[in-house]
Amino acid sequence: MQMNNYIEIIDKKLDEYIKIEYPETIFKSMKYTVTLPGKRLRPVMCLETCRVLGGEIEDAIPAACAVEMLHAQTLIHDDLPCMDNDDYRRGKLTNHKVFGEAIATLAGDALLTYAPQIITKYSDNLSSSVLIRVLNEYFQYAGARGVIAGQVVDMESEGKYIPEGGNIINRQEAEKTLEYLHIHKTSDLFQLAMRTGAIIAGADDDKLSAVTEFAKTFGLAFQIADDILDEISTFEQMGKTLGKDKEEGKLTYVSLFGLEEAKCKLTCLLAKCHDIMNEQNMYSVIFAEIIEKIIQRAGK
Ligand code: IPE
Ligand code: IPE
Ligand code: MG
Ligand code: MG
Ligand code: MG
Repeated sequence: MQMNNYIEIIDKKLDEYIKIEYPETIFKSMKYTVTLPGKRLRPVMCLETCRVLGGEIEDAIPAACAVEMLHAQTLIHDDLPCMDNDDYRRGKLTNHKVFGEAIATLAGDALLTYAPQIITKYSDNLSSSVLIRVLNEYFQYAGARGVIAGQVVDMESEGKYIPEGGNIINRQEAEKTLEYLHIHKTSDLFQLAMRTGAIIAGADDDKLSAVTEFAKTFGLAFQIADDILDEISTFEQMGKTLGKDKEEGKLTYVSLFGLEEAKCKLTCLLAKCHDIMNEQNMYSVIFAEIIEKIIQRAGK
């Protein structure tokens, strides 16, 4: 299966899974961000992990879509004026710009709880023990020990280590904090996506550890690439307002290490992902393609 085939399946299911019902505003707001054209990396990686480890793609579709819904939730909240205060996402106005802050906040809350219900409602093929494991993964990575932890530390680090035009304050602590916040705000959803695919495929503990290591490393690289692209890319390419990280004094790999070192770190981490794939017998053309695209866009 090719990347485009995966995306077609995911887009069709996401559209099916969110029907507009009463009260319409909330369902429209949820559906708005979910169905905007994102790259769909997390659900694609969920399905591909399941396939590579010998599982049926069909069995993982509801969970893959749930991860994309959770991702959309984090984007809606991330863009709110009380967080990153952004006006554009996926090439269109952000959720709160269209629906207002109250509905956007509620749409995020609604997606957070709607997504696991998609798993329970449509995963007839999964045994109850697998279903419980998958749900546990969801709650772990979506919650206060997962992506929320990353977002909290991201907000708390704003302006703390990188003062306007000044020298970095407490570099050692800044480096540790940066890795923590990137792993949680970004790697956690890739870990959720890939671990879920692996669990549905019936992976053993060793395989699950390898998948976790891959996802953690990939997620860190992905956020470094996002930090780099915030400096060097364009609105047309990214579909969101760029240059904001610097303006807001965000703690990023670029702000802490500079552009060139951030690119080196990115290349190194993606090389490690290749090694894990090769050594763990989980090579995937799709993963290799995704890695290559990131290097081409942000690593050169
Ligand atoms: C954006 O993720 C948030 C980050 C973790 C940097 P993506 O770059 O995957 O966003 P979409 O899904 O393609 O819009
Ligand atoms: C976002 O990090 C991570 C989450 C949404 C959880 P960013 O704030 O850098 O993402 P963008 O640049 O707004 O997509
Ligand atoms: Mg943010
Ligand atoms: Mg943001
Ligand atoms: Mg960013």
